[in-house]
Amino acid sequence: MGKATVAVGLQFGDEGKGKIIDCLSEEYDYVARFYGGANAGHTVSFDGKTFKLNLIPSGIFNPKAYNFLCSGMVIDPEKFTDEIIDLQKKNISIERLRISARAHIIMPWHKIIDAAKDAALGKQAIGTTGRGIGPCYADKASRIGIRVGELLDVKRLTEHIEWCYKLKEKEISLFENAKLPPLAQIIDDFKKHACNLSSFIADTEEKLRRALKNDNKKILLEGAQGAMIDIDNGTYPFVTSSSATSAGACVGAGLPPTAIDEIYGIAKAYITRVGNGPFVTELNDEIGETLRKNGNEFGTTTGRPRRCGWFDVPLARYTAELNGVTGIILTKLDVLTGISPIKVATAYRRERMILPVLSPMHPLEECRPFYEEFEGWKEPIANVDSWDKLPPQAQRYVEELEKLIGFPIIAVATGPDRKAIIERR
Ligand code: IMP
Repeated sequence: MGKATVAVGLQFGDEGKGKIIDCLSEEYDYVARFYGGANAGHTVSFDGKTFKLNLIPSGIFNPKAYNFLCSGMVIDPEKFTDEIIDLQKKNISIERLRISARAHIIMPWHKIIDAAKDAALGKQAIGTTGRGIGPCYADKASRIGIRVGELLDVKRLTEHIEWCYKLKEKEISLFENAKLPPLAQIIDDFKKHACNLSSFIADTEEKLRRALKNDNKKILLEGAQGAMIDIDNGTYPFVTSSSATSAGACVGAGLPPTAIDEIYGIAKAYITRVGNGPFVTELNDEIGETLRKNGNEFGTTTGRPRRCGWFDVPLARYTAELNGVTGIILTKLDVLTGISPIKVATAYRRERMILPVLSPMHPLEECRPFYEEFEGWKEPIANVDSWDKLPPQAQRYVEELEKLIGFPIIAVATGPDRKAIIERR
């Protein structure tokens, strides 16, 4: 029996999962994304080249691995086509790329409703990526969604688009300045999408189960977003509309929980958030600016500047426990170079209480950080690949975080390149 490993984000997303998945994927036969869509942005760098992906798994750079977009995902066919064209231009093989017939399709109305709704929310806006994610998952839950498998039967697909269009015209008429493109144009576009996508469509869930059961293969389940924007366990309503946890990996990839052996939690050595919502350790000062600049903290998907802050231990402990991580991979340690002291929130304060844990009983909006300070380092550590070459202050920072979180930090990344990683076990 083969085994599956899950890699998930432990913060608000953008933890550097793309690079880690790319590094890990060498050891795996299958890399599968299980939730989310083109709201995710993964950056992978090697041999002096940088690739930015939104939909396609970061394992695509391993030519021997199958890369699957599984049933829990929401697929924007236009975005998918753009990504495969770009990869082909750069000589990256897409031969082993497949999309689940069960995945849902992002329709033009989803993007229109996403933008119109967030604008109408005003002060309560979530600050979505505008990629149609929420409205697509809402249609899935309402059981009116259009699935990827329908692209294989254009007649049935056309009928489905026609009756959905009528429904969506009514919904969109509720918003000012929002308008659907003509039905005939959507149907035409979808005929093209059907041609472009049909050869990629498969029962990926069945293939993954067979790969484990009969072929003793290894599967890497690639999380998108981060546990703090998980629909059930994150900072609701400032969350995405799908599951971003290890438990969600099984549902979204069609695997039983018994298939999972390792669970890697990926966390940045500080913390960032894009979009609105509470952020206890946010820095609206020069240090926040330095982190943004040195860490190139601008959204891969939308280009928005990311909000930056100090590492938050109660948050990391909560997400490490929630995901049941077997090891943490700490990324972007190099970005902290030159900053001293480095602060870490070890607990929250609310009114007169000290709270060691994150809880919905104490809204994060009302919590303030209780900081411990650590001495920083000046020596550049970008691309350092062995523990012994790290300055003692950097080693201590990692060791103290490990103690505070209570989970092993099994690797530390020191730069965007594939080789900039230090293994600790
Ligand atoms: P949506 O997923 O586009 O609906 O956006 C909902 C919230 O999740 C917004 O605050 C987004 O900025 C955030 N979000 C969604 N995907 C990502 C991601 O991959 N990284 C970081 N934030 C994300």
